[in-house]
Amino acid sequence: MNKVRIGFVGLGHRGIYLSKLYQQRIKDCKVVALCDRIEPLLEEGAAQLGDGDISTFTDYSTMLKEAELDAVGVFTDADKQVDLVCEALYAGKHVTCEVPLAFTIEDCWKIVLTVEKTGLKFQLCEQTRYWPQIRAWREMVKEGKLGKILFVEGQYFHYCDGAYWQDPTTGVRYKDSELREGLNVRKTWRNGMPPIIYLPHELSPLLSILDDRVVRVSCMSTRPKSYCLEGVDMPDVQAAIMYTEKDTVMRLACSFTVPRYYPNHWYHIWGTKGVVESNRAEKDKMRMWLADSMKESDSPEDMEWKYEPEELPKEAIGSGHGDADYFPAASFIESILEDTTPPMDVYKSVETAAPAIMASISAKQNGTCLEVPDFRLGEKRKAGCEPDE
Ligand SMILES: NC(=O)c1ccc[n+]([C@@H]2O[C@H](COP(=O)([O-])OP(=O)(O)OC[C@H]3O[C@@H](n4cnc5c(N)ncnc54)[C@H](O)[C@@H]3O)[C@@H](O)[C@H]2O)c1
Repeated sequence: MNKVRIGFVGLGHRGIYLSKLYQQRIKDCKVVALCDRIEPLLEEGAAQLGDGDISTFTDYSTMLKEAELDAVGVFTDADKQVDLVCEALYAGKHVTCEVPLAFTIEDCWKIVLTVEKTGLKFQLCEQTRYWPQIRAWREMVKEGKLGKILFVEGQYFHYCDGAYWQDPTTGVRYKDSELREGLNVRKTWRNGMPPIIYLPHELSPLLSILDDRVVRVSCMSTRPKSYCLEGVDMPDVQAAIMYTEKDTVMRLACSFTVPRYYPNHWYHIWGTKGVVESNRAEKDKMRMWLADSMKESDSPEDMEWKYEPEELPKEAIGSGHGDADYFPAASFIESILEDTTPPMDVYKSVETAAPAIMASISAKQNGTCLEVPDFRLGEKRKAGCEPDE
């Protein structure tokens, strides 16, 4: 195989963007099919790619049967994507899908067991783990520069008014304030999502730095209905405390319905030998304080972690989310051609989803502390089988 033939399902905001990214920036693949059940979105996606040889489908199963595909990208409603991922795997296609992987623990098991049974490649499109500060911190932690990591924090606060209502025929989205009688609108999959479910952009980079997994969680939530967006049935804030296998405490929070300044993501890592932290506001600086070379009275040093030129291929520059969107796509295609394990394989992927799912359950139980299942293979579990099956 010289080029991976790939088809995409889901041509909303993200799917159109990623199908163009694959077409224009990933040289070892060819986009051959597109699918969305909303015809105007399908037409717009096809027009943006501008290649008359690309087949278009409104039915996903038909695309899997009729298009000659080696791989599929699933960029659909996140709460229902696991069935589509598994259908493609059982049809013999390698699969990449978007964040967050799953909304239930049952779906996490389903995807793990299907990947194990089919032996095909699976990769989650999680890109923040490729940001330069995350790469730099991963190296620092590996080299012991921050000592034993005791406490990490992450948050994703992103005001998403405009993502909660959609005309199901045209695909046009509406803000809460634009709702009026006579509009043909329905709630999107985001309208009702427990915000803490959307944690992979925090758990993926932080767990990659810690080389660890979450074992216990507890979560608190504001009321089930937004205070800011009247038509949105989501708590405005959910905040979780998590504990990892290697003895680190994590504090994580998500919010998608409250106006706020940039950046959306914030990370903080504290070890026995130092602290690193990302910028909290756009004009703020990232910071570092190291116990071996600095005094307690010293303020942390302002830092600017950037990609080294050799870390940033030209195809990645401008690829979105601070040049990081290129990397999960390129590494997925590379893993197929080289027959290697994708960097964000199914185990790493569920380990970013399951703690968030358990946190959303904990929030409904007023913060009860809950265990997170272990999906890795080992004495208690053989490939393709549930634990002790
Ligand atoms: N990694 C990131 O930074 C990032 C950013 C934004 C969105 N996302 C993720 O990308 C995914 C898509 O998000 P979005 O905002 O584009 O959503 P969206 O609701 O705008 O688009 C989803 C599209 O999928 C289509 N669809 C759903 N089920 C289908 C089916 N069975 N057959 C055919 N078409 C189907 C819908 O018609 C819709 O057009 C989600 O998982 C989201 O969380 C990730």
